[in-house]
Amino acid sequence: RNVAVILAGGTGTRVGLSIPKQLIKIAGKTILEHTIAVFQAADAVDEIIILMTPGHLDPVNAIVRDGKYPKVTQVLEGGATRNETTSLALKALGEDECNVLFHDAVRPLVSQKIIEDVVEALGTYEAVDTAIPSADTVVSVHPESEGDLDTISDVLRRDLLRRGQTPQAFRASIIRDAYDKAWQDPDFTATDDCTVVLRYRPDVPIAVVQGHERNMKVTEPIDVYIADKLFQLASAEEPEALDDEQYRAALEGKTIVVFGG
Ligand code: CTP
Repeated sequence: RNVAVILAGGTGTRVGLSIPKQLIKIAGKTILEHTIAVFQAADAVDEIIILMTPGHLDPVNAIVRDGKYPKVTQVLEGGATRNETTSLALKALGEDECNVLFHDAVRPLVSQKIIEDVVEALGTYEAVDTAIPSADTVVSVHPESEGDLDTISDVLRRDLLRRGQTPQAFRASIIRDAYDKAWQDPDFTATDDCTVVLRYRPDVPIAVVQGHERNMKVTEPIDVYIADKLFQLASAEEPEALDDEQYRAALEGKTIVVFGG
């Protein structure tokens, strides 16, 4: 059994509106509903659990009550951090042995292919991440620099770097065990779930499935515009993600590309 957990417990401070960013409407639906719809449509997903920002459950219950998303079995309050929200989801699942796919509510452009690839990888691996190569060179900086500006401590080897996306998926027993150990560690901090497995169940290899640039996380105000544009490109006749070839074809028809030619 594959359970999708949609992590929607954040407040969207960086987008900075009066509502959590997952409730922003683009292309006719809230970002959260777009995300729910993708998992509802995924053949391999049997059940969906949503964890929402405390105080904002009404709009989520309204979406679910509509009857369009029968796989949604629970709408619960999230925790104070993303990891606490994950833990609350695990608690809600009980001792059930299943596969759990954690997905950021604010990645509404995840494709069916990514979900299929993640589920397939779970047939072989007990932990699976989704990631894409980094187009940017990634540098690390000294934790405390002496001047006004950060100074570089290292330039990382780009060919070995990946940018993590979601879904991140696990056998329930593995992620449960990793979190049990993590919460006993007073120094525990993380921003995702694979880090928890990497640190507290280092015996478990974490497979990396290829994500897509399109599976972006709405984080800053500009991302709302980008996501809106991407939804327009994928409109009615192409509800599923365009592949790179189709994006290229769409660009061919645009004046910005034929400039000079
Ligand atoms: N998330 C969550 N519970 C939290 C914090 C975050 O479920 N306590 C979820 C968010 O709703 C989002 C995903 O984790 O879908 C990725 O987090 P992020 O982009 O950092 O969301 P926010 O915490 O809402 O953003 P910000 O840091 O700008 O406040």
